[in-house]
Amino acid sequence: MLAVTFDLKGWSTERLERVEEALSSWIPADTPASLGLAMRYAVLDGGKRLRPLLVLGASEAVGGNADAALRAACAVELIHAYSLVHDDMPCMDNDVLRRGKPTVHVAYGEATALLAGDALQALAFELLAPEGVGIPDRTQATLCRLLAMAAGHAGMAGGQAIDLAAVGKSLTESELRQMHRLKTGALLQASVMMGVACGEAGAQASAGLANYGRAMGLAFQVVDDILDVTADSATLGKTAGKDAAQEKPTYVSLLGLPRARAYAVELLEQALDALATTGLPDTRALLALAEMVVHRDN
Ligand code: IPE
Ligand code: IPE
Ligand code: MG
Ligand code: MG
Ligand code: MG
Repeated sequence: MLAVTFDLKGWSTERLERVEEALSSWIPADTPASLGLAMRYAVLDGGKRLRPLLVLGASEAVGGNADAALRAACAVELIHAYSLVHDDMPCMDNDVLRRGKPTVHVAYGEATALLAGDALQALAFELLAPEGVGIPDRTQATLCRLLAMAAGHAGMAGGQAIDLAAVGKSLTESELRQMHRLKTGALLQASVMMGVACGEAGAQASAGLANYGRAMGLAFQVVDDILDVTADSATLGKTAGKDAAQEKPTYVSLLGLPRARAYAVELLEQALDALATTGLPDTRALLALAEMVVHRDN
């Protein structure tokens, strides 16, 4: 298998240096009150940065514009970080630990956490529509559209609404799948498709990568459900065991651990099969990222 010979760690380290530097330079510290500090606290120094890596991996696979891809990688991470800030607030999951640190509302107060999330969301779109850097208007518009659709009512925010309405209920498998596809899968699939939008992929490659993103995105949340049960808080950097404590329907509550694990592996296979249909010469990074999604321990 190609993945065996692919150095994902080396590949990621090189790219994440650029992403970290760009995020740090684009998120302001100098803002009214402590808003910028809360934004930086929410985003910098933590997280696996899976979404930026998916953007960059997909863009490289289709020979995309590197400047556009770096902006897209950072934009999607800003939306993700904002979603975590709000997800952790007392009105949602009420969590005190995130990325190994106190959550933003614990550190800065609820009102500032709410505003930091709002401002991160706005900043994401600002990054995607810069003036005078040579990214074609059409590419900028496509990137904004993909991100907006994945973040909004038909994506992350819609999925989070289902999640909150489902507390204490048992969902059918197709309801649970839909909730996971929206709250988490949409942004992961959009990461891949934003990378694709930075280049000129043909219809076959584009469809293959969309299917890859869809399967991998769902696998990600299935594994998140599993890790909530099997891992400890120190490893996760967030409170373990909270899904059962808060009566959230999950793949583990629906299927039990062994079948949830088998489903994650089945989705990985679907993702890798989809990748093989793209006809692209080098998709090793995307292949290795999908394996990491399913075999990760945090
Ligand atoms: C956690 O996402 C929230 C979900 C969407 C399940 P990640 O596991 O990617 O969190 P970080 O970015 O590494 O902290
Ligand atoms: C969160 O799902 C999905 C988001 C859109 C943030 P979870 O509530 O399961 O994420 P964690 O487990 O708190 O990271
Ligand atoms: Mg949640
Ligand atoms: Mg949560
Ligand atoms: Mg979770």
